[in-house]
Amino acid sequence: MKKISFAGPWITDKEVEYVTDATINGFYENYDGYAKKLENEITSYLGVKYSIATHCCTVALHMAALAIGLKDDDEVIVTDFSWVATAYAISYTGAKCVFVDIDPDSWCISAEAIEAAITNKTKAIMLVHSFGYPAQMDKIMSIAKKYNLKVIEDAAPALGSEFKGQKVGTFGDVGCFSFQGAKLTVSGEGGVFVTNDEEIYKKALLLSSMGRTDSNAVFWSDSLGYQYTIANLTAALALAQVERVDELIHKKREIFNWYYSGLKDVKGIKFIKEKEDVRSNYCYPSILLEDELNIDRDKLLDFLRDNNIHCRPGFPQMSKFPIYEQRFENKNAHKAWKRGVSLASAANLNREDINLVCKLIREFIELNEKSK
Ligand SMILES: Cc1ncc(COP(=O)(O)O)c(C=O)c1O
Repeated sequence: MKKISFAGPWITDKEVEYVTDATINGFYENYDGYAKKLENEITSYLGVKYSIATHCCTVALHMAALAIGLKDDDEVIVTDFSWVATAYAISYTGAKCVFVDIDPDSWCISAEAIEAAITNKTKAIMLVHSFGYPAQMDKIMSIAKKYNLKVIEDAAPALGSEFKGQKVGTFGDVGCFSFQGAKLTVSGEGGVFVTNDEEIYKKALLLSSMGRTDSNAVFWSDSLGYQYTIANLTAALALAQVERVDELIHKKREIFNWYYSGLKDVKGIKFIKEKEDVRSNYCYPSILLEDELNIDRDKLLDFLRDNNIHCRPGFPQMSKFPIYEQRFENKNAHKAWKRGVSLASAANLNREDINLVCKLIREFIELNEKSK
């Protein structure tokens, strides 16, 4: 039986060619050639001024938190629904995460919840374009302007998604993307930091390269830094994928549409689905099992796994993690955690595979409805 994977890349001859070339020729004077090409490709694709290719998105987020100047006791308003890298990047600086609720239709941070959480210690907003779905950037940027807050966009899965025709990751002070193995464009590990702010860029560049300036001697470092840059070999793979980003988005959107046509009439299944003004890359097509659908979400995931299908539960609320304190209850984030499902959408899946997933979900629901 074919394994229906949650996520995974689409590798073509182009990727093999670039990586082979990087292996043979990507050293000596070409040691960073692919890293530079990747940065140029990203700046022109997104229409931003600066980019730094990084080891992964987590470190890009850490550089963002440092480069906007966060320090001990600053408060940052963070979505309560994400992979923990979003929050830890803030915590590494000593600043405090204030977790707020999400919008139930997009699973992205709620603009209203942001405004309600602002105090005189608030310095920044850390938002996520959850599963590729764009956050409400017009409302969020106007709140940031009103209260003079910095904005970091964690766009890890959201390369190519758009809010009102503008690519996400380009609205705030910094945007960060991931090339980790389950993302849209994949290089195993990998990420990129983007900004239009020259000062932030210069700070981040120093941070990414151990603070090395050579100002006083070769190997001289003037400030604490990190080894956060990408490997040239990794960059070769990422570049080939980013050059194919539109094709990859097309595939994800096709998969979303197959799921939507297969399940849209099932009562109690709510799709996290585009509204006007946004274009999602649908990196992870997702559904919510409404309360009226009286089935156990985790049993559904187990049932699918027994059939060789890997779908994922929603993220747990980070505000409930032991190192954090919870200021708000965040009911929508709680619901997405407990009743959310991200559907298998690896790039190697075809319509038949998706039809099978839909059929099994329907079967599980019917079986459970009968046994009530
Ligand atoms: C929302 C979000 N932020 C950050 C990251 C971290 O990305 P990376 O694994 O490239 O460090 C991920 C990765 O899964 C993510 O989903």
